[in-house]
Amino acid sequence: MIREILKMGDPRLLQVARKVERFNTPELRTLIEDMFDTMDHANGAGLAAPQIGVDLQVVIFGFDRNPRYPDAPMVPKTVLVNPVLEMLSDELEDGWEGCLSVPGLRGVVPRHVRLKYSGHDLMGNRLERVAEGFHARVVQHECDHLRGILYPMRIKDFSRFGFTEVLFPDLPANGDD
Ligand code: NI
Repeated sequence: MIREILKMGDPRLLQVARKVERFNTPELRTLIEDMFDTMDHANGAGLAAPQIGVDLQVVIFGFDRNPRYPDAPMVPKTVLVNPVLEMLSDELEDGWEGCLSVPGLRGVVPRHVRLKYSGHDLMGNRLERVAEGFHARVVQHECDHLRGILYPMRIKDFSRFGFTEVLFPDLPANGDD
Protein backbone atom coordinates (compact mmCIF):
# COMPACT_ATOMS: atom_id res chain seq x y z
CA MET A 1 0.00 0.00 0.00
CA ILE A 2 1.27 3.44 -0.90
CA ARG A 3 1.61 5.51 2.25
CA GLU A 4 1.74 9.25 2.75
CA ILE A 5 5.28 10.61 3.00
CA LEU A 6 5.84 13.08 5.82
CA LYS A 7 7.39 16.39 4.83
CA MET A 8 10.11 18.41 6.51
CA GLY A 9 8.63 20.36 9.39
CA ASP A 10 6.81 17.34 10.77
CA PRO A 11 8.33 16.65 14.20
CA ARG A 12 8.17 12.88 13.58
CA LEU A 13 11.03 13.29 11.10
CA LEU A 14 13.24 14.62 13.90
CA GLN A 15 12.94 11.66 16.25
CA VAL A 16 15.50 8.97 16.96
CA ALA A 17 13.87 5.75 15.76
CA ARG A 18 13.46 2.67 17.96
CA LYS A 19 15.15 -0.65 17.29
CA VAL A 20 13.15 -3.50 15.80
CA GLU A 21 13.05 -6.30 18.37
CA ARG A 22 11.13 -9.04 16.57
CA PHE A 23 11.77 -10.19 13.02
CA ASN A 24 9.62 -12.02 10.49
CA THR A 25 6.37 -10.67 11.93
CA PRO A 26 3.33 -9.74 9.81
CA GLU A 27 3.71 -6.13 10.97
CA LEU A 28 7.33 -5.89 9.82
CA ARG A 29 6.52 -7.62 6.53
CA THR A 30 3.66 -5.19 5.83
CA LEU A 31 5.81 -2.21 6.77
CA ILE A 32 8.54 -3.24 4.33
CA GLU A 33 6.03 -3.93 1.53
CA ASP A 34 4.41 -0.54 2.09
CA MET A 35 7.81 1.14 2.06
CA PHE A 36 8.67 -0.44 -1.32
CA ASP A 37 5.26 0.51 -2.75
CA THR A 38 5.72 4.08 -1.54
CA MET A 39 9.33 4.39 -2.73
CA ASP A 40 8.59 2.89 -6.14
CA HIS A 41 5.53 5.10 -6.63
CA ALA A 42 7.68 8.19 -5.99
CA ASN A 43 10.69 6.90 -7.98
CA GLY A 44 12.76 7.21 -4.82
CA ALA A 45 16.27 5.87 -4.40
CA GLY A 46 15.56 5.00 -0.79
CA LEU A 47 13.11 5.41 2.05
CA ALA A 48 13.25 5.25 5.84
CA ALA A 49 10.35 4.11 8.05
CA PRO A 50 10.08 7.46 9.90
CA GLN A 51 9.24 9.08 6.54
CA ILE A 52 5.91 7.23 6.61
CA GLY A 53 5.43 7.94 10.29
CA VAL A 54 6.73 4.64 11.66
CA ASP A 55 9.16 5.04 14.51
CA LEU A 56 11.40 2.05 13.75
CA GLN A 57 14.94 1.53 12.49
CA VAL A 58 14.06 0.24 9.03
CA VAL A 59 15.42 1.59 5.75
CA ILE A 60 15.15 0.37 2.18
CA PHE A 61 17.08 1.51 -0.88
CA GLY A 62 18.23 0.40 -4.28
CA PHE A 63 17.38 0.51 -7.99
CA ASP A 64 18.62 -0.69 -11.36
CA ARG A 65 18.01 2.61 -13.06
CA ASN A 66 16.45 5.68 -11.53
CA PRO A 67 14.89 8.38 -13.72
CA ARG A 68 15.51 10.94 -11.00
CA TYR A 69 19.22 10.05 -10.79
CA PRO A 70 20.01 9.11 -14.41
CA ASP A 71 23.79 9.19 -13.92
CA ALA A 72 23.80 7.10 -10.72
CA PRO A 73 25.21 3.57 -10.86
CA MET A 74 22.94 0.67 -9.90
CA VAL A 75 22.47 0.09 -6.17
CA PRO A 76 21.29 -3.36 -4.98
CA LYS A 77 17.71 -3.47 -3.65
CA THR A 78 18.19 -3.76 0.07
CA VAL A 79 16.18 -3.96 3.29
CA LEU A 80 18.22 -2.91 6.29
CA VAL A 81 16.82 -3.24 9.80
CA ASN A 82 18.70 -1.85 12.82
CA PRO A 83 21.58 -0.64 10.64
CA VAL A 84 25.08 0.07 11.92
CA LEU A 85 27.50 2.11 9.82
CA GLU A 86 31.26 2.06 10.04
CA MET A 87 33.03 4.72 7.99
CA LEU A 88 36.02 3.32 6.10
CA SER A 89 37.32 6.66 4.87
CA ASP A 90 37.62 10.07 6.48
CA GLU A 91 37.53 11.49 2.99
CA LEU A 92 34.31 13.35 2.18
CA GLU A 93 32.90 13.80 -1.29
CA ASP A 94 30.32 16.37 -2.39
CA GLY A 95 27.26 15.14 -4.26
CA TRP A 96 23.71 16.20 -5.06
CA GLU A 97 20.91 14.80 -2.93
CA GLY A 98 17.18 15.11 -2.74
CA CYS A 99 14.66 13.63 -0.34
CA LEU A 100 11.04 12.54 -0.68
CA SER A 101 10.39 14.46 2.56
CA VAL A 102 11.88 17.64 1.05
CA PRO A 103 10.06 17.62 -2.29
CA GLY A 104 11.20 19.70 -5.21
CA LEU A 105 14.65 20.57 -3.87
CA ARG A 106 18.21 19.37 -4.27
CA GLY A 107 21.37 20.24 -2.41
CA VAL A 108 25.05 19.33 -2.35
CA VAL A 109 25.96 17.29 0.72
CA PRO A 110 29.40 16.04 1.81
CA ARG A 111 29.40 12.31 2.60
CA HIS A 112 32.01 9.70 3.45
CA VAL A 113 33.26 8.03 0.29
CA ARG A 114 33.44 4.48 1.66
CA LEU A 115 31.76 2.63 4.50
CA LYS A 116 30.72 -0.74 5.83
CA TYR A 117 27.06 -1.22 6.69
CA SER A 118 25.49 -4.05 8.59
CA GLY A 119 22.09 -4.92 9.93
CA HIS A 120 19.34 -7.47 9.38
CA ASP A 121 16.74 -8.28 6.77
CA LEU A 122 13.03 -8.98 7.35
CA MET A 123 13.77 -12.53 8.50
CA GLY A 124 16.50 -11.44 10.87
CA ASN A 125 19.35 -12.67 8.71
CA ARG A 126 22.48 -10.63 9.18
CA LEU A 127 23.70 -8.53 6.27
CA GLU A 128 27.09 -6.87 5.94
CA ARG A 129 28.39 -4.98 2.93
CA VAL A 130 31.07 -2.50 1.91
CA ALA A 131 29.87 0.35 -0.28
CA GLU A 132 31.33 3.43 -1.89
CA GLY A 133 30.28 6.37 -4.00
CA PHE A 134 26.56 6.85 -4.64
CA HIS A 135 25.69 3.58 -2.90
CA ALA A 136 27.48 4.77 0.26
CA ARG A 137 25.78 8.17 -0.07
CA VAL A 138 22.30 6.63 -0.22
CA VAL A 139 23.01 4.50 2.86
CA GLN A 140 24.23 7.52 4.84
CA HIS A 141 21.21 9.57 3.75
CA GLU A 142 18.69 6.88 4.72
CA CYS A 143 20.35 6.03 8.03
CA ASP A 144 20.41 9.74 8.90
CA HIS A 145 16.60 9.60 8.83
CA LEU A 146 16.74 7.12 11.74
CA ARG A 147 18.51 9.74 13.83
CA GLY A 148 16.22 12.61 12.89
CA ILE A 149 18.67 14.16 10.44
CA LEU A 150 17.46 15.51 7.09
CA TYR A 151 20.00 16.27 4.37
CA PRO A 152 19.55 20.09 4.48
CA MET A 153 21.00 19.93 8.01
CA ARG A 154 24.26 18.68 6.45
CA ILE A 155 24.57 21.28 3.70
CA LYS A 156 27.72 23.42 4.02
CA ASP A 157 27.35 25.54 0.90
CA PHE A 158 23.85 26.93 0.51
CA SER A 159 24.72 28.40 -2.89
CA ARG A 160 24.29 24.81 -4.08
CA PHE A 161 20.78 24.24 -2.74
CA GLY A 162 17.72 24.95 -4.83
CA PHE A 163 14.73 23.80 -6.77
CA THR A 164 15.22 20.65 -8.86
CA GLU A 165 13.30 22.09 -11.82
CA VAL A 166 15.70 25.04 -11.94
CA LEU A 167 18.93 23.14 -11.20
CA PHE A 168 18.12 20.11 -13.36
CA PRO A 169 15.45 21.14 -15.86
CA ASP A 170 15.77 17.87 -17.80
CA LEU A 171 14.81 15.62 -14.88
CA PRO A 172 11.24 14.29 -14.59
CA ALA A 173 9.17 16.46 -12.27
CA ASN A 174 7.97 13.87 -9.81
CA GLY A 175 8.36 14.14 -6.06
CA ASP A 176 11.93 13.96 -4.89
CA ASP A 177 14.43 11.97 -3.04
NI1 NI B 1 15.42 11.24 2.48
